[in-house]
Amino acid sequence: MTGQLTGFQNAVPRVTLEYADGRDLVLDVYTSEIIRVFMDRGDATNSYAIEGDKHHTTNYAVENKGDHIELRTASLVVKAYDNHYLDVYDSEGNPLVLDYRGHRHPLANDLDEEHKSTVLAEGHDINLRDQAESGYYEVIKSLAPDEQFYGLGDKPGFLNKRGYDYDNWNVDFGQVHNESVKGIYKSIPVMYGLKNGHPYGLFFDNTYKSHFDLGKENENYYYYSAMDGNLDYYLLGGHTLKDVVANYTYLTGVTPLPQKWVLGYQQSRWGYSTSDKRVAAIADGFEKYHLPVDVIHLDIDYMRGYRDFTWDTTKFKNPKKFVAEMKKRGIRLMPILDAGVKKDEDGYDIYQEGIDKGYFVENPDGTVFIGRVWPGDAVFPDFGRPEVRQWWAKHVKFFADMGACGVWNDMDEPASFDGELPSDLIFHNGGQKTTHAKMHNVFGHLQAQAAYDGMKAATGKRPYIITRAAYAGTQKYSTIWTGDNQSIWSHLQLAIPQLTSLGMSGFAIAGTDIGGFQKDTTPELLTRWLEASLFVPLFRNHAEMGTRYQEPWSFDRQTLDIYRDYLNLRYRFVPFLYDQLRHETESGLPVMRPLVLNYDHDPAVRQINDEYMVGTSILVAPIVNQGTNKRLVYLPAGKWLDFWNNAEYSGQQTIMVNAPIEKLPLFIKKDTLLPWGNKVKHIADQPETVMTFRLFGDCGAYKHYQDNGLDFKYQDGEYNEYYIAVAGDGQVTVKLTKHGYQPTYQRIYVETTGGRFEFDYDPASESYQLAE
Ligand code: GLC
Repeated sequence: MTGQLTGFQNAVPRVTLEYADGRDLVLDVYTSEIIRVFMDRGDATNSYAIEGDKHHTTNYAVENKGDHIELRTASLVVKAYDNHYLDVYDSEGNPLVLDYRGHRHPLANDLDEEHKSTVLAEGHDINLRDQAESGYYEVIKSLAPDEQFYGLGDKPGFLNKRGYDYDNWNVDFGQVHNESVKGIYKSIPVMYGLKNGHPYGLFFDNTYKSHFDLGKENENYYYYSAMDGNLDYYLLGGHTLKDVVANYTYLTGVTPLPQKWVLGYQQSRWGYSTSDKRVAAIADGFEKYHLPVDVIHLDIDYMRGYRDFTWDTTKFKNPKKFVAEMKKRGIRLMPILDAGVKKDEDGYDIYQEGIDKGYFVENPDGTVFIGRVWPGDAVFPDFGRPEVRQWWAKHVKFFADMGACGVWNDMDEPASFDGELPSDLIFHNGGQKTTHAKMHNVFGHLQAQAAYDGMKAATGKRPYIITRAAYAGTQKYSTIWTGDNQSIWSHLQLAIPQLTSLGMSGFAIAGTDIGGFQKDTTPELLTRWLEASLFVPLFRNHAEMGTRYQEPWSFDRQTLDIYRDYLNLRYRFVPFLYDQLRHETESGLPVMRPLVLNYDHDPAVRQINDEYMVGTSILVAPIVNQGTNKRLVYLPAGKWLDFWNNAEYSGQQTIMVNAPIEKLPLFIKKDTLLPWGNKVKHIADQPETVMTFRLFGDCGAYKHYQDNGLDFKYQDGEYNEYYIAVAGDGQVTVKLTKHGYQPTYQRIYVETTGGRFEFDYDPASESYQLAE
C-alpha cells in the first residue's frame, strides 16, 4: 500500500509522519489547542497571515498505537492512519475533525458542450467546476448530521454556512451579493465548526484559489480544495467557540486599537470630491442639521486624472489648506487610493519611478502588464517585494503631509476592467519569482501593509486604513468594508451575518455601506440600515454617483430626525465601543458577535441571522424587512432589559417586540454598567473631562479604559483604567485603578435607579470622591 504509515520522527515541536509513498505529513504543535498539518508540495512555505513564531512550549505525547500513531496535547488528540487519514478529537474524546473515507459524489453536471454554451449564452451562471490541474488537491472531512459552519470572512450568505460552497479568490463583484454568490472581495480561509455541539476551527493558509464545499455536494462530507500550494492547515481547538476564535486571532493577529474618532460617523459618496466646495457643502449640511460627523471620504475625483498620489488643484484650490480648515471644523478627510497606477509617460513620477525600478507586475515575456482601471491603461505594483512596499509606503506620506486622516484602498483585488489578470503574470513572493495565481489573494493585504507602514512612519499615529480586498491576517493593518452592496433590503439583511462572520474571522473593524452603495435607497431602508448599524464599528454611509442622494437630510423631516437621534445615540456608545476594541486586542474576540459565539451551547442561536451582540451584554435585533414594525426576538440565557423602557424579560425565549420606524429593538443584559459618552459633534483630539456610567438593572461593575485615542503611547503604559461598580445595596464605587495617562476625568457620574451620583477627582490622592 503506497499510503502506508510506516513510522514517525519526533523533533519537538514537530512530528513527521512517514508514509511509504514518501509524502510525509508534519504535525506541528503550536500550542495545546493549535496544531499545524503540513505537507510540502514544493511551494514556498512563508505565511502572509501569520507573522512571527507563534509556538508556545507545549507538552505533548506521541505514540505508535499499532494501527495508528497518536499525538496528544492537553486539549487535542490527533490520530494518524494509513493513506494520510487524520482524525482529531478533543481531550474528552469528542470527534472534531475526521477525514472522510468514503467516495466523493460530485454534483451532477451532465451538460454536453452544446447545452453548456446555450445556457451560458444568455449570461446564466452554472456549476462549472475548476478543472483539476497538476497542483490541485482536496481535503475531505466527515460531516455529522448536527454540524454547523461559521466564519469564512465576508462570504455573502447566512451565518451558518452549511449546505453552501464558496471560492477563495478576491473578486471585484458588482452584482447583487447573496447566498448564491461564491465569493466577493476577500479570501479568509478560516472555518469554524460545531460538531454535535463541540467547537473547532480549521484555517487553510494557502493563498492560491481555493474552494470550500460545506455539505452542499453531499450530506456526509465537507471539503476544502486548492488549485495549488502546500497542504497547510491549522487545527484549532478550545473549550468554547470563543476559545477557538481566540486561537485563530492569536495566530493571525488581532485588529489593533484604532484612533478613537474612527468610531465616529463617516459620510461618503462617489462624487463629493469633484470640488472643495462640494465637500464643504456636505460639512455645512452636518452643521445646519445639527448632526455629528467625524469623517468625510474623498472618492477618486480629488485626484488629477485618477493618478495615485496626486491632488487636482483645479478642483481643490489649496488641498492642504482645505484639509486643515475641515479639521478645524472637526471633520477629517479620508482619500481613496487605487491599486492601478496610471500608465502615463508624460512626467508622472509614480509611474516613471516604478518603471525605472522595475516595480510593476510583468507579463511572462518580461514586459510590463497593462490593465485598465479608472485612469485608463494602468499598471500594478508588485507588492510581494518588500522594496515595492517600502516605495509605496514612502509615497503614502503624501496623504499624511496633506493632513488626510488615513488611506482608503480600493480596487486591490486587484481589479481591472479588462477582466481578471492572467494567472501567469510574474509577481514576487519576497525575492522569489512567482505568479499572479499565488499572489492574487494577498495583493490587497500587502498594499494595506504598505499603507499602514507608510502612515505609521509619517504620523506616529495609529493608521486608519480601509481596504476592500483582504486575506487572513489583513486585520493587523487595515479595517475593511464589504464593497459595492446595493440599496436593497436583502443587502441590509446580509450585513448582519456578513459582519459577524468577519468578526469571527479576525476583522473587528468592519462595515457595510450604510443605505447601500448601488441603486436608489428609500427613506425607510436608510433609516433601518442606520439603526441596524448602531454598533457597527466602521459606521459609514456611502453611495455611488448617479444614485439617489442619501445624506441624512436628503429625505423628509422624520427621516432626518430619526437619523440624528441614532447618530447621537451612537456617540453615547463610542466609549463602550472603544472599550470593546481594547478588550478585543487582549482577548482576540470581536466587538460584533453572532449569538452563537457567546452561547455556543444553545442550539436555538446557531442559525440566527437577524440579531447580533456587542460584546456580551448588548443584543441588537434590527428590523431588516420593508414595511415591518414588529418582530420576534430570541433572547439567550439570562435576564434582559429593553433599552427603551426597562421592561425585563427572561432569556431562552422568543418575544414579540414592536418596532415602529424610529425604534431599533435593543436589549441590555440585566445588571450591566455601561459608559455613556458625552453628547458631542465630533470626537476631539483633546481628552474628555467628564464621563458618565449608566446602570441597567440593580447592580453591576465595569472596567473602563482611557488613553489619548491617537498614538502608540498606550503601548508604553500611557493609559488609565477605571473600575466602576454599583453594589446590590446601591453603594457606588469609582476607582482609578491604573493611572498611566496624565489627564483623568475631572468628574464621573454614575446613573442608577437610586439617582445620579457625582464623583470628583482629587489629584492629590489620585482618587474620586463622592460630591456632597
Ligand atoms: C469601487 C468602490 C466604491 C467606490 C468606487 C469609485 O466601486 O468599491 O466604494 O466608490 O469604486 O472609486
